[in-house]
Amino acid sequence: MSALLLTNIAQLLTLRGSHAPRRGHELRALGIIEDAAVLSVGGKVVSVGSRKDAARDAWVKKAEVLEIDCRNGVVMPGFVDAHTHPAFVSPRLVDFEKRIEGATYEEIAAAGGGIRSSISGVREAKKTELTAKIVSALNQMSAQGTTTVEAKSGYGLSLESEIKSLEAIRDAARQWPGTVVPTLLGAHIVPPEFKDRAEEYVRMVCEEMIPQVAKKKLAEFVDVFCERSAFSVEQSERVLEAALKHGLPVRAHVWQLSPAKLDSLYRFKPASFDHLDCMSDGDVAMLSKTDTIATLVPGANFFLGLKEYPPARKLIEAGAAVALASDFNPGTSPTVSMPFALSLACTQMKMSAEEAISAATINGAWSLRMAERKGSIEPGKDADLAIFGVRDYREIPYWFGCETCSGVVMNGELRLNA
Ligand code: NIG
Ligand code: FE
Repeated sequence: MSALLLTNIAQLLTLRGSHAPRRGHELRALGIIEDAAVLSVGGKVVSVGSRKDAARDAWVKKAEVLEIDCRNGVVMPGFVDAHTHPAFVSPRLVDFEKRIEGATYEEIAAAGGGIRSSISGVREAKKTELTAKIVSALNQMSAQGTTTVEAKSGYGLSLESEIKSLEAIRDAARQWPGTVVPTLLGAHIVPPEFKDRAEEYVRMVCEEMIPQVAKKKLAEFVDVFCERSAFSVEQSERVLEAALKHGLPVRAHVWQLSPAKLDSLYRFKPASFDHLDCMSDGDVAMLSKTDTIATLVPGANFFLGLKEYPPARKLIEAGAAVALASDFNPGTSPTVSMPFALSLACTQMKMSAEEAISAATINGAWSLRMAERKGSIEPGKDADLAIFGVRDYREIPYWFGCETCSGVVMNGELRLNA
């Protein structure tokens, strides 16, 4: 059994003691141990404490221990990036240039760009090609401290190519030591061959795609893009209902580009509502009373050049359980970096460094319904750790666009950056 002792840690952010998603002031409690050490054995955290405590642990004497000197840096739970779209082939440079010239995301999409322009690449790609792209993204993510990734399909948008995308996600996950949570996003937009036949597409998603994906056990969640330019509230309800019927819990892209009345979606007990830019104060109050996590993805606002960001402060003050994710995708957020998402959370959404760190770890884990294993450093949990070459955790969001992560432990496997 492989044993790993991380020592010489200036600040160990344990995030310990969350028995429910963190809300309000709870987001500020990082459970810091100074001059700390962590022992992992066989992929699980065994001992957490001061350097001296860990050295006394019986495991250290029995097992062959590989000792890693963290050089007086910061160690925290690996980021749980609970919203990514890695199953695509090419960057969308035409959209990028049109936006620089002043067009909006919705204008570009209406003119045939946007998600539609990523479809043919995925349909034409061999599964192995998609897998290689996803593995490359996962490796870039872990180089920046991410150890758990939710990965959506959603650029194939036919039965075969959504299944191919999810199989590529599964195959990529096998080549990466971290943890991948696959999500079916067959209802991302209506693909061109179903133009003016959205109802038929929704029916295909509900009656063929979801049942087949569930049967093949290719996804752990079903997502839907509920938006005026994608799927209506009523269509979204049907997708979520079909998911639950086939045993798959749900999450949804909501209030990204326009306001909407979404009260009817709560009956599906969504694990997470994501984006949330256009929610009203009433929506904030309602969401805050539920168990649905509010996942914010400020990388999308940044990349689209928007002045407004989601109402993080209002959500936190109302008691919503806020999470942060990268939204890695070719259209709105081509970044794998959780530290950058934290920088945006702090500078643009006025979240404190503590709130941002809790949102990007333990609350991400709650949104994936994996908090019993992920998101904090506690005995018995998976050994998922991120090591940073900084003295103070506030430097993680502070050094924006810099690469301060020096390595990760993923399910007990150490990977140091060169
Ligand atoms: O999270 N909103 C829908 N999905 C993505 C964008 C997808 C794309 O433009 O490729 C998002 O922003
Ligand atoms: Fe998204």
